[in-house]
Amino acid sequence: MNDKNEMRLEFESRSQNESFARTVVAAFVAQLDPTIEELADIKTAVSEAVTNSIIHGYVDEIGVISMHCTICENELTVEIIDQGVGIDDVNKAMEPLYTTKPELERSGMGFSFMEAFMDDLQVVSSSGTGTRVIMRKKIGRIEMKRRFAPQTFEIEA
Ligand SMILES: Nc1ncnc2c1ncn2[C@@H]1O[C@H](COP(=O)(O)OP(=O)(O)O)[C@@H](O)[C@H]1O
Ligand SMILES: [Mg+2]
Repeated sequence: MNDKNEMRLEFESRSQNESFARTVVAAFVAQLDPTIEELADIKTAVSEAVTNSIIHGYVDEIGVISMHCTICENELTVEIIDQGVGIDDVNKAMEPLYTTKPELERSGMGFSFMEAFMDDLQVVSSSGTGTRVIMRKKIGRIEMKRRFAPQTFEIEA
């Protein structure tokens, strides 16, 4: 049996679809039996990526956002893709507190949150070609540690 599972979704870049998108990812990853904390981390990261496509990618227009989720063994991969304006300098955009929209009271912490809450973050973008954000997270690592090394397992304070 193939233990890979995939789903794809396309939706319009309307602000009400941000909560729709994170709820869909949460429902998809439920099959890995994540903890409430893992679920909250994933929802926050998805929410940040989708919000970026809505407000930075498609400025003053409604475009299509694609979401591609894969589960392979105990790892979730989420890709959020837009065909919006793209990012000139990805490294600079990923710096904490960097924002091109301070007037909208953006915190400039979106990419930092994605990095903190997921295990891995890749951003592929250039001006005019849109943006692809790829995030990965392994689910159930604490449980695995408990199961395989019960005598050495310690919860960090
Ligand atoms: N999908 C996107 N399309 C175009 N620009 C983006 C996209 N995502 C992020 N950016 C750029 O990267 C910057 C940093 O993003 P982020 O860390 O989420 O901070 P914030 O959204 O608060 O500005 C944004 O201000 C924007 O210039
Ligand atoms: Mg943001």
